[in-house]
Amino acid sequence: MRVAVTGAGGRLGSALVKQLGEASFVREVLAWDLPQHDLDDPASAGRLLTRFRPDVVIHTAAWTAVDDCAQQPDIAMRRNGAAVGEMAEACVSAGAALVMISTNEVFDGLRTDGVPYRPTDRPNPLNAYGKSKLEGERLARAAYWAAGPDFGAAAMQPDIARDSTIPALAIVRTAWLFGIPGSDFPQKILAAARQARAAGTPLKLVSDEIGCPTYATDLATAITQLVRESNVPHGHGLGGIHHIVNAGKASRAEWARELLRLAGLDLQTEDVPMSTWPRPSTPPAWGVLDPTPLPGGPLRTWHDALADYLRLLPTGA
Ligand SMILES: NC(=O)c1ccc[n+]([C@@H]2O[C@H](COP(=O)([O-])OP(=O)(O)OC[C@H]3O[C@@H](n4cnc5c(N)ncnc54)[C@H](OP(=O)(O)O)[C@@H]3O)[C@@H](O)[C@H]2O)c1
Repeated sequence: MRVAVTGAGGRLGSALVKQLGEASFVREVLAWDLPQHDLDDPASAGRLLTRFRPDVVIHTAAWTAVDDCAQQPDIAMRRNGAAVGEMAEACVSAGAALVMISTNEVFDGLRTDGVPYRPTDRPNPLNAYGKSKLEGERLARAAYWAAGPDFGAAAMQPDIARDSTIPALAIVRTAWLFGIPGSDFPQKILAAARQARAAGTPLKLVSDEIGCPTYATDLATAITQLVRESNVPHGHGLGGIHHIVNAGKASRAEWARELLRLAGLDLQTEDVPMSTWPRPSTPPAWGVLDPTPLPGGPLRTWHDALADYLRLLPTGA
């Protein structure tokens, strides 16, 4: 297979390029990023698909700065919404499958029953980033749905197709990604912990935002298996909405405390509500995803993944 990865220099994109490059079922990996692939250019996806003809595109590129998205929602819609629709249409025209990466922020996080969100739960994003990613999901489905029998969509009921399976389109929702090249929550907490320790003040940690910390390396492994299975006769197939996160859940405070423990950083912490730091973007308070079954089985716990990641980081402790 020839597999293209957009956002190839990003956290998830770079992990995918590495793992696909080592996978025996992949003949060639096409690593696309700016300026070759530009979410601001409506013709960009079509040009790349026509020229390189991959079998599968894994679309990780996105405007992920959630607070900037809140301040410039039109740009968020362009990059995370319209550009995904253009990518899906280009893939349909070229006969390629698409894996689109989406987010737990398509949910409002207002549920209080402690039940993780399933792919069949109704999205209702609170913020501009979540709205733009949901629009990307909608436009991707619309492009494959419009393609009809070539992609199997016409064989299904519209309501099933809306929430479930179009064989050549996978929507992968994930959450709270961490991993190389960093600038992620673990690295920010380690820097803040060093500052707090030098100042002799407690480290304030948000305790009322709950999610699923997910290691980009593990997510890349799961997506690689998903793509491999799609190429195997009678395999699992690619299509549908997949919730892929490391096992377990945590508040930001629990995640940070586990990180400090692993890094051997002993300092005082103080739990605070997220309202302590008003932000342009409101995250879902309960952003927990129910992992969908995967060809390679469930991902390991986020604790184990974090311990692995930490071995790669200079802790400076
Ligand atoms: N990070 C999270 O916690 C999280 C959670 C849930 C879902 N997701 C989703 O997972 C995917 C991967 O996230 P990530 O954390 O790996 O993101 P990331 O590290 O921010 O990488 C995003 C990639 O998109 C590229 N990009 C940004 N603006 C672009 C533009 N205008 N045109 C073309 N490419 C552009 C970036 O290129 P440059 O580096 O050159 O700007 C980068 O390669 C995204 O779709 C995101 O929405 C992320």
